[in-house]
Amino acid sequence: MWKGLIEEYKEFLPVTENTPALTLNEGNTPLIHLVNLSKELGIELYGKIEGANPTGSFKDRGMVFAVAKAIEDGAKCVICASTGNTSAAASAYAARAGIQSIVVIPKGKVALGKLAQACMYGAKIIEIDGNFDDALAIVRQVSETTPVKLVNSVNPYRIEGQKTAAFEIVDSLGQAPEYLCIPVGNAGNISAYWKGFKEYNEAKNTGLPKMYGFEAEGAAAIVKGEPITNPETVATAIRIGNPASWKLAEAARDESEGIIDSVTDDEILAAYQLIARSEGIFVEPGSAASLAGVIKSVNNGKITKGSHVVTVFTGNGLKDPDTAMSVSKVDLVSLKNDEEEIRQYIEGIL
Ligand code: F0G
Repeated sequence: MWKGLIEEYKEFLPVTENTPALTLNEGNTPLIHLVNLSKELGIELYGKIEGANPTGSFKDRGMVFAVAKAIEDGAKCVICASTGNTSAAASAYAARAGIQSIVVIPKGKVALGKLAQACMYGAKIIEIDGNFDDALAIVRQVSETTPVKLVNSVNPYRIEGQKTAAFEIVDSLGQAPEYLCIPVGNAGNISAYWKGFKEYNEAKNTGLPKMYGFEAEGAAAIVKGEPITNPETVATAIRIGNPASWKLAEAARDESEGIIDSVTDDEILAAYQLIARSEGIFVEPGSAASLAGVIKSVNNGKITKGSHVVTVFTGNGLKDPDTAMSVSKVDLVSLKNDEEEIRQYIEGIL
């Protein structure tokens, strides 16, 4: 039986005898060969389905370890800023561990499912008239002067936990893919994957991918080379104008001979619908930025035809029902509770 990340990967993590055995059985997520899109794009494309984690996003990988280490340090309360997924994961693992969580979020800019999670897991939720970058600046300050442990990805244990996704990809494929495509928001995850690929390569000689990161165009600080004061994108998960791990993400890009590029909201929403319709995989808009980036890179020649590409789907589509319904042109057909009427309708569309 899968025992969760801390137990499964303890030889690669700074685990001590005092680290609690915290887990919600996170990790071990599917790597799915995207057969239809592979054919369409002329590459071998795989999707890492991080929405299959316990709270529906990759954040569980980092959070299980950050919360475990916080408890090891004696913390009774964790705090984070979030566009939604970090807050869901922090509050879930805090609940599991029996400690308090406090989350600070941008008012009106967190997808409904994520907010529902923080409510259900029992977080104290503070919403501010400001964006993620403002919230992060505040919680960084507060955590320095109060006995609350910061669990944003500036906490190095978050990166340690998140690097395990790279291990799983290599174990599934037998070696690293040629390209690893990933959305970029606060830039922690691209940094974590690169660390994971490098450590596994050192231990097992499994090769290294080129790291391809994709920001949303309205929040593309790294691409533009300067912070964005008012980031805007339909992909609220990555609506971030001043990524905390900016330097680490640039290092991942440069060391791997990769790129960090941007994709437009139109490209994100097209990829969001394409992955659901063509492969039966429902991801949230922020996650679709990576597939939008794959498509852009195949079209402009930055991904070579025939190559092996892994795209990371960071969060589950169920988290953001509002965006799903607003892009869906499906009209619900309301019929009588009557077999004949329903049969006639079905015969009409066949
Ligand atoms: N995809 C999703 C679904 C996310 O929630 C995030 C970040 C990212 C991608 C980007 O990852 O920040 O490591 O570059 N969400 C954070 C949050 C900011 O608060 O949930 P990153």
